Amino acid sequence: MFAPIMRKSLLSLLSLCISVSVFSQETLIPVPVSQQQKSGVFTLPKTIVIEAQQTPGNTLQDLKSHLSLPTGYSVTTTSSNSNATIRLILNTNADAQLGAEGYTLDVSPKAIQIRANQPAGLFYGVQTLLQLLPKDIESKVPVKNTAWTIPCQTITDYPRFSWRGLMLDVSRHFFTKQEVKGFIDEMVKYKFNLLHMHLTDDEGWRVEIKSLPRLTQVGAWAAPRQGTYGTFPAPAPEEPRTYGGFFTQDDIREIVQYAKDRFVNILPEVDVPGHSLAAIVAYPELSCTPGVDKYKVRSGERIMDWHKGGFDALIDNTLCPANEKIYPFLDKVFTELAQLFPFGYIHIGGDECAKNFWEESDAVKALMKKENLKNMEEVQSYFEKRVEKIVESKGKKVIGWDEILEGGLAPNSAVMSWRGIAGGIQAAKMGHQVVMSPTTFFYLDYMQGDAAVEPPVYASLRLNKTYSFEPVPDSVDPKLIIGGQANLWTEQVYNTRHMQYMIWPRSMAVAECLWSPKEKKDWNSFTKRVEANFDRLDVEEVKYARSMFDAIITPKKDYAGNRSIVVELDTEIKGLDIYYSWDNSNPDNFYPKYTGALNVPKDASWLKVITYRDGKPIGKQINIAVSELQSRAGITPQD
Ligand code: ACM
Repeated sequence: MFAPIMRKSLLSLLSLCISVSVFSQETLIPVPVSQQQKSGVFTLPKTIVIEAQQTPGNTLQDLKSHLSLPTGYSVTTTSSNSNATIRLILNTNADAQLGAEGYTLDVSPKAIQIRANQPAGLFYGVQTLLQLLPKDIESKVPVKNTAWTIPCQTITDYPRFSWRGLMLDVSRHFFTKQEVKGFIDEMVKYKFNLLHMHLTDDEGWRVEIKSLPRLTQVGAWAAPRQGTYGTFPAPAPEEPRTYGGFFTQDDIREIVQYAKDRFVNILPEVDVPGHSLAAIVAYPELSCTPGVDKYKVRSGERIMDWHKGGFDALIDNTLCPANEKIYPFLDKVFTELAQLFPFGYIHIGGDECAKNFWEESDAVKALMKKENLKNMEEVQSYFEKRVEKIVESKGKKVIGWDEILEGGLAPNSAVMSWRGIAGGIQAAKMGHQVVMSPTTFFYLDYMQGDAAVEPPVYASLRLNKTYSFEPVPDSVDPKLIIGGQANLWTEQVYNTRHMQYMIWPRSMAVAECLWSPKEKKDWNSFTKRVEANFDRLDVEEVKYARSMFDAIITPKKDYAGNRSIVVELDTEIKGLDIYYSWDNSNPDNFYPKYTGALNVPKDASWLKVITYRDGKPIGKQINIAVSELQSRAGITPQD
C-alpha cells in the first residue's frame, strides 16, 4: 500500500513541477502589467478558427500567417462564433485602464480570448500571444513534432509611455523599402509604435521631393566604400558615385501604409541646418559659401574636427540662415513631407550644427546686426524659429534634437533629448513635451561589449546600462515625458545583418523601459527572457548580439605599485564562470577561475578571458594585450 501512495504523490509532485516549469519558461518582452497563471494548458487544435470583426490593420493577417505556416494547420476566420479557438474582441464599453493600446489576454484549455478598446490593443495582444507560443511559431517553414501549447493564464497589459520609438538612419547607409519593412516587422514584436527615419544627412538625401529633383538625383549618391567609416580618403573628382539610393514618394506611401497596418507611426527627419551637405551638393546656393562643383556627397571621409572646445566643419555642411533662399527651399521640402507622412510631428534635426563657416560669413554678420543676434546660438535659434513657422504652417508640430532649445522654442514644439537627459529636463521645465533618447542609455550605434571583440565604434553601451534607464527624471512633470526612443546611426552599419546585430537585444531593454511598469523591471528575469527570445530570433534567422555573455574587463591603476595595474573581471548576467590565462594560450574551464582582482604577472603580454556556464563556453574569448590594459587604465608609456 505504501508504494502506490508514494508513487502517486511523486507523480503529482512531478506534474506540479512540470506545470510550474512550463509556466516559468518566461518569454514575454516587454514584461506585461499583470500575468496570472491558471491551471491547465491550451493546445492549438488542427483546425483553428479565429473570430474577429473587421478591424483596421494587419492583426488578423499577421496572426493567421504566423499560425498556419509553421503548424501546417488549417486556420479560418469568422465574424462570430462563440466556439472559436481564438477570439479577438473590441470592447463595446471601453475599459479605462487599458487605454488605446492595452489588452487583456485569457488563455483557457479550449480557447484564447483577446480583448481591447482599440484595434492597436488587439494587435499587441496578438504579439503577446505569439510570444507565448513555442519559438517554432516564428519558423518560415512547417515544423514537425512541436507541441503547440500555452499554459493557461490571464494577462492584463498596457503601455507606460505612448511614444516607443526606434530611429533608423537611412542616410549614412541606405536601407531599402523592403529592409525598412523588415525593421518594422521586428520592432512591433516588442511593441514599439514609432519609427523615426533619419532621411537626410551629409551622406545622402533619401526622400524624393518632386519640386526639388536634384536632392535625390545628385544628393543621394556617394562613392562606394567599405571599412572604417570616417577615415576614408576623399574620393577622386571623377570617381563614379554608385552607392546610395532614395525612397520615391510611392515608396514612402507604401512604407507609411505598411507601418500604419502595424500601428506604427513614421516620424520623418530632415536634419537642418547642420548635417546638410547632401542638400548643398544638390543646391550649392543654400550654403553661406556657395561654389560650382565645390561640394560632393560625403563618402566616409573626415568632415568634422572634434576638439575639446567643440567642433568645426572641415567642409561647409550647413544651410545659411542669412540666405533668404533657404526658407522657400524648406517650405517646398516640408510641404511635400507633410503630404507624405500623416504623423503629427516632423523632426527638423538641429543637432551638431558647426558655426565656423557662419562666423566667417558677411551675410551672417549682417543678419546678426539686423536681427540683434548676439552669438551663433542665437543665429541658429533665429533659423529654428523660422523653420518652426514653416512646419506649423503645414499643420504639423515640430520635434528636434535638444539643440533646438538653445534660444527658445515655439510652445507646441517637442524636444528629443540626446545629449544625456539634461535637455529633456530643461525642455520639460519650460513646458515642452520630451522624448528621452540619451546617448548614455539609448544609442544603438555604440558597441555592446568589449572593444577587443566588437566591430569598432567610438563608445560603448552594454545591455545592462540600457536596461537601467528610467525615462522620467525626479524633478519634472511626468506627463511631459511622452516616451523614449533608441537611435541606430549607421555610419558603421553597412548591411541588414549588422543592423539587426546592433538593435537586438538592446532594443528589447528599451521596449521594457518604455512599455512595462517601472516596478516590474527585473534584470535577472529580463536576461532569462532575452535568452528565450534569442531562441526565437534564431528560428526567425534574425541576427543579434550575444555580448551580454562576454566578460567585462576593467583594468585599474594600482596606486600602491609602480606603473602596475589590477584587472577586475565581471559579467553582466548572473551564473557565469570566468577563466583566464596570461601565457598566451586559449583558456578553457580547466584554467584558473576568476575569484578576485588579478595582478599582471611580470613580463606577461596578453590577458585572455572566456566565460562558461554549466561547464560550457558561452561568451566570446577576449584577448587584450597588457599594453592595452595599461592604456585603458590610464597608464601611458612615459608614466
Ligand atoms: C545626434 O546623435 N547627433 C542627434
